[in-house]
Amino acid sequence: MSTALVRTAAILAASLFLALPGAGLAAAASGDARAGAATTAGTAKPEQAYSRRGADTCIACHEDQALMTIFRTPHGAPNDPRSPFGAGQLQCESCHGPSDAHARGRGKDRPDSIDFGRGAKTPVKVQNAMCLQCHQGTANHWAPSQHAGAELSCADCHDSHALHDPMKKAVSQNETCTNCHKSQHTQGAMPFRHPLAEGKMACTSCHAPHGSTNPGMLKARGPFLCQTCHQASGHPSLPFGPNNLPGAGGPNTAYVVAGNCQNCHTQVHGSNHPSGSKLMR
Ligand code: HEC
Ligand code: HEC
Ligand code: HEC
Ligand code: HEC
Ligand code: HEC
Ligand code: HEC
Ligand code: HEC
Ligand code: HEC
Repeated sequence: MSTALVRTAAILAASLFLALPGAGLAAAASGDARAGAATTAGTAKPEQAYSRRGADTCIACHEDQALMTIFRTPHGAPNDPRSPFGAGQLQCESCHGPSDAHARGRGKDRPDSIDFGRGAKTPVKVQNAMCLQCHQGTANHWAPSQHAGAELSCADCHDSHALHDPMKKAVSQNETCTNCHKSQHTQGAMPFRHPLAEGKMACTSCHAPHGSTNPGMLKARGPFLCQTCHQASGHPSLPFGPNNLPGAGGPNTAYVVAGNCQNCHTQVHGSNHPSGSKLMR
């Protein structure tokens, strides 16, 4: 980019920024957080510094509309003191780390900013630490989960710049999860299945992807999980003994229903067997 072009971009970006809800906030970032710059991020090398003008510095080059939508998400909320754009916070750099040298660098001499996702150069542990510094509550569940063990990045599931985080809506959540979990993708397209494709249910109707002490990262153990939606009474598989006729409530009723539902309904994610309508084969 020529110097003239850079200036034009900066002016354009600045005017764009003023039209956004977060207008003027960037410049208003208090000096406090920035003064402690060198140490706060923890993951950053001590000699790295935060840019003095915060987001205004960044949007001089990064004025892409797809990035600017962050100002319409909870992360861009100026009135929430905990958000990256709350008063005294580090704005873009609360996630991307101290980036003064990045912003000043030219060509090959431009050091990288912290980047997110599986393909990014930044190690996943460093990426996730940036998010977990604010999301302590998530941290407790996250650490022992299979997803943490498999070195997933928060950004493999979440998209911080998107207007709607893909995890919040059933259809986009199911798509994101099945990008990796291919067999659930295949089963979800079978004729007999739970109504996920219709957006009536999500993977999180049954799973807790930040962690869970139950096998298979389930929200609850079977049969309780299934019984949050399905009634046990009147189940057609009640044994037909003298005391156990359907509705009689005999002792075996509890036995059958308290046994794990998946003992019989093995194909919870879907079935294409001609007699698989009850997800049993
Ligand atoms: C003078 C222009 C300029 C400024 C100012 C600037 N960047 Fe960048 N940034 C770039 C360029 C060019 C790339 C692309 C590098 C590449 O693709 O190899 C980039 C890439 C990035 C990336 C992707 C990861 C990487 O480093 O390649 C992130 C994240 C990023 N910038 C964040 C920021 C933040 C945060 C700020 C403000 C503190 C900022 N940038 C300021 C020019 C700039
Ligand atoms: C400076 C603190 C801070 C940082 C850093 C931060 N967040 Fe947040 N995040 C927040 C706040 C505050 C909210 C709003 C919470 C609320 O309303 O209860 C939020 C909300 C969220 C939500 C819910 C979004 C929604 O639409 O409801 C997700 C998901 C999330 N953050 C993920 C992340 C990820 C992933 C990262 C790292 C890339 C990250 N956060 C970095 C402070 C932060
Ligand atoms: C495997 C996918 C996945 C990964 C990886 C993941 N999350 Fe989530 N996250 C979800 C889902 C699903 C929800 C629930 C969304 C809903 O129903 O509101 C969620 C919700 C959240 C929320 C909203 C508050 C809440 O607890 O409901 C925050 C904050 C959050 N995640 C932060 C993180 C952070 C930080 C990381 C990385 C350490 C991370 N997530 C990694 C899938 C994931
Ligand atoms: C809450 C954390 C968070 C904040 C705040 C944040 N970003 Fe990001 N940024 C991300 C994540 C996560 C990604 C990876 C892509 C995605 O999930 O949207 C990303 C991606 C990027 C990229 C790389 C896009 C690419 O194509 O590789 C740039 C550049 C960038 N952000 C710039 C900014 C600028 C400029 C700001 C401030 C206006 C900002 N970010 C604020 C979390 C954040
Ligand atoms: C109706 C409840 C339900 C829904 C909805 C659901 N699952 Fe499951 N899932 C289960 C049960 C039950 C298991 C078996 C867990 C065990 O016993 O180990 C399981 C197991 C898994 C496993 C472990 C591997 C395997 O096949 O045993 C993965 C991966 C998985 N589910 C992914 C997903 C994804 C991705 C979605 C969304 C597309 C999803 N699940 C939706 C109930 C559900
Ligand atoms: C970036 C790829 C990726 C994404 C996206 C992803 N997962 Fe996973 N998931 C994995 C990996 C890797 C493992 C651990 C290895 C394995 O068992 O497959 C795993 C493990 C699991 C397990 C436990 C499997 C077991 O054997 O007990 C469940 C359940 C699961 N994921 C559900 C989900 C759900 C629900 C989502 C969406 C909210 C999701 N995953 C998104 C990659 C991913
Ligand atoms: C979040 C609610 C929810 C949970 C949890 C749930 N289901 Fe379902 N289930 C549904 C819905 C909704 C349908 C579709 C009903 C319809 O199409 O009429 C369904 C359909 C079924 C069917 C096919 C029923 C028929 O009439 O053909 C079976 C079998 C089934 N579920 C078993 C299970 C098992 C086993 C579990 C536990 C692993 C479980 N479900 C967990 C909501 C749930
Ligand atoms: C001993 C095997 C067995 C166990 C255990 C079992 N089921 Fe069933 N389930 C069946 C049979 C058999 C049918 C009837 C199939 C038919 O009529 O075609 C059925 C039907 C269903 C249906 C469809 C109901 C209808 O009216 O068509 C649902 C939903 C269901 N079971 C859920 C569950 C849940 C939830 C559990 C755990 C609490 C469970 N099942 C445990 C064997 C079992």
